[in-house]
Amino acid sequence: MKPQKADIDKVVKKLKQTKHYKHVCEETLARIATKELEKYKDIKLAVKESKEVLWKNYGAFRYKDYKNMLDKLKASKNLKDTIKGILLGHESTKEHAQIVDEFYKKVFKITGTPKSVLDLGAGLTPLTIPWMNLPKGAKYRAYDIDIEELAFLNEFFKLLKIDGQADTADLLCKVPKDKADLALLLKVLPPLEWQEKGSIKRVLENINAPTIIVTIPIKFLGLKGTTMPKSFEETLQKICENKNWPFQRIEFETEITYIIKKK
Ligand SMILES: C[S@@+](CC[C@H](N)C(=O)[O-])C[C@H]1O[C@@H](n2cnc3c(N)ncnc32)[C@H](O)[C@@H]1O
Repeated sequence: MKPQKADIDKVVKKLKQTKHYKHVCEETLARIATKELEKYKDIKLAVKESKEVLWKNYGAFRYKDYKNMLDKLKASKNLKDTIKGILLGHESTKEHAQIVDEFYKKVFKITGTPKSVLDLGAGLTPLTIPWMNLPKGAKYRAYDIDIEELAFLNEFFKLLKIDGQADTADLLCKVPKDKADLALLLKVLPPLEWQEKGSIKRVLENINAPTIIVTIPIKFLGLKGTTMPKSFEETLQKICENKNWPFQRIEFETEITYIIKKK
């Protein structure tokens, strides 16, 4: 039975009162609250289980010191060095920082440099724009579920004077409709698939870009001592094969990368 709206609101309100999840967008909190209420039919338990889901899929990647980061960026004399320092200082971005010098060079050599980018489940990936060498006037659209992080990204776009915009979008509720030359799904598909089996296919189908870059962190793949089954890659490959989407696989030191061409 579908939970009552009043009960969903109660769970959302409780989650919004927590230090960790008060900045998570309402549609994500309501989605998770609904699912946990369906399972447990009890407000207290649903709050507890929702926190668990949020921690695994979002809280573990959360950044805390946006003001400090922005101050550092504004005062920076060497933007790339400052950004690398920031990325190396966060558990969830330090792997990408290790490969960022070669990542876009290699990937864009294959795809061509995009004039518009759609960055889904963006996290701090927009901070790597200086490595992308995008052409003048390029458009960058970033989406995620954390309102505080998105506000920080909008400040960062202003600082870089690029045509950038960051907004909320829970990919398990809807995929943004923006058209772009290239979509980035960096390390974001595993948490989506964990939350909702089969969601990868729906997300990929609904992206309005001819080229999609997907990365998977190696340490989750079972390759470096881990939790994530290798079957994740098999699932991704099967989707591409069934859809007749050609793909190329590149292995970087910390991330497996798929370049998918949607026809
Ligand atoms: C492992 S982090 C990757 C962040 C960034 N793309 C990177 O490569 O560093 C996963 C990201 O997915 C976001 N996320 C989790 N669930 C999501 C959802 N349902 N819809 C959109 N983004 C989501 C998280 O907030 C987090 O920023």
